[in-house]
Amino acid sequence: MRTLVLSRRDVEAVSTMPMAVDAVEEAFAAYARGEAEMPPKVYLDLPDHEGDFRAMPSRIGGAGGEVAGVKWVNSHPKNPERFGLPSVMGLYVLSDPKNAFPLAVMDATLLTALRTGAAAGVASKHLCGSAPKTVGFVGSGVQARFLHAAHVAVFGHTFAGVFADRDTALAEKLAHELGGRAGTVEEAAGCDVVCTSTPVRHPIVQRAWVRNDAHVNAMGADGPGKQELDPQILFDAQVVIDESHQAEHSGEINVPIHDGTYALDRVAGTLGQIITGQRKVDRSALTLFDSTGLAIQDAALAARIFAAASAQKVGLEVDLVGLG
Ligand SMILES: NC(=O)c1ccc[n+]([C@@H]2O[C@H](COP(=O)([O-])OP(=O)(O)OC[C@H]3O[C@@H](n4cnc5c(N)ncnc54)[C@H](O)[C@@H]3O)[C@@H](O)[C@H]2O)c1
Repeated sequence: MRTLVLSRRDVEAVSTMPMAVDAVEEAFAAYARGEAEMPPKVYLDLPDHEGDFRAMPSRIGGAGGEVAGVKWVNSHPKNPERFGLPSVMGLYVLSDPKNAFPLAVMDATLLTALRTGAAAGVASKHLCGSAPKTVGFVGSGVQARFLHAAHVAVFGHTFAGVFADRDTALAEKLAHELGGRAGTVEEAAGCDVVCTSTPVRHPIVQRAWVRNDAHVNAMGADGPGKQELDPQILFDAQVVIDESHQAEHSGEINVPIHDGTYALDRVAGTLGQIITGQRKVDRSALTLFDSTGLAIQDAALAARIFAAASAQKVGLEVDLVGLG
C-alpha cells in the first residue's frame, strides 16, 4: 500500500470549484445530521516568531463514505518580508478511518482557499432570495478570487462583480481578470450579495450601505478581535454561523459577544441546519453567513481531491510507512 503525495500543482490539476462546492455542502449537512466529528482547533502560538500553527482534525461519516484527516496550517504574517515565503502554508494528511493508513499527504493551501470560497457559495445558494444580479467583494486579495469562482459555480456567469480594496490596483486587477468593475467599499456593500474578506479589526462596512434584502458572506473574521462589519448589520440580519464554538471565539460575532451586545442565542442556526432543513430563514430579508472555516470542509474536499488524483494517476505514490 502506498501513500499518495500531492503537490500544490497536483491539487490544482485535479480540483475544481464545483467539486469544492459539492464537498463543502455535503460536509455541512453531515455535521448537522450528527455524522461528523470535529474536535476544536488546536492553536500552537509562536510569539518569538510572530506566528502560530493550527491543527484541525475531523472525521466525516454517513452515506457518502467515511473520511478522516488533519490539516496542519500556520499564520506567519511577516513571512513574505522576512523569508520570501507565503504567510499561510497548509498540509493535509488524509487517513483511512478503518485502519488509519495514510492515504494521502497534500498541499492544503489551495485546498483552504477553495473550501473557503465554496462555503460562501453554498451559503449564498441557501440564503439568497433569488440569483444575485450583483455580487460585491470587500477585499480583493487571495480569497476574493475564490469567492467569485464559487458564486460562478453556484449561479453561473449571471452577475456583475464589484471589487473593492484599500489597494485600488488590486480591485482593478480582479475586475479586469474576472469581469466586473472596481468600486468603493460602499458600492461593493450595496450589492445583492456582499462577500467580505479583509483581515481588519475595526468595522469597514456600514449598516446604511447594506440593503435590507441582501445576503452577506462575512469571511474575513476568523480570529479573536477581528471584525469587518458594523455590528448593527448583525443585529438586523438573520445570522447563520458555521459552528457555534468557533463563531463565538473567532467569527464576525466574536467582538459583539465579547462586548456583551450580541448573544449566541440570537443566531438563526448553522449553515448545516439550513441545508438539511432543520432551521429556516426568511430568504427575502437580510441574511448573513459568519464563516470561520471548519475542519470538515477540509476533510471533505481532501477526500475528493484524493479520489480524483487516484483516478487520473496524478501525484507521487510513496511507501511512506515502510510496508515494502
Ligand atoms: N472564514 C474562513 O474560512 C477563512 C479562510 C481563509 C482566510 N480567512 C480570512 O480572510 C481574510 C482574507 O484572507 P486573504 O487570504 O484573502 O488575505 P489577503 O491579504 O490576500 O487579502 C485581504 C485584502 O484585504 C484588503 N484590505 C485590508 N484592509 C482593508 C480595508 N480597510 N479596506 C479594504 N480592503 C482592505 C487588503 O488590501 C487585501 O487585498 C483574512 O482575515 C483571513 O484570515 C478566512
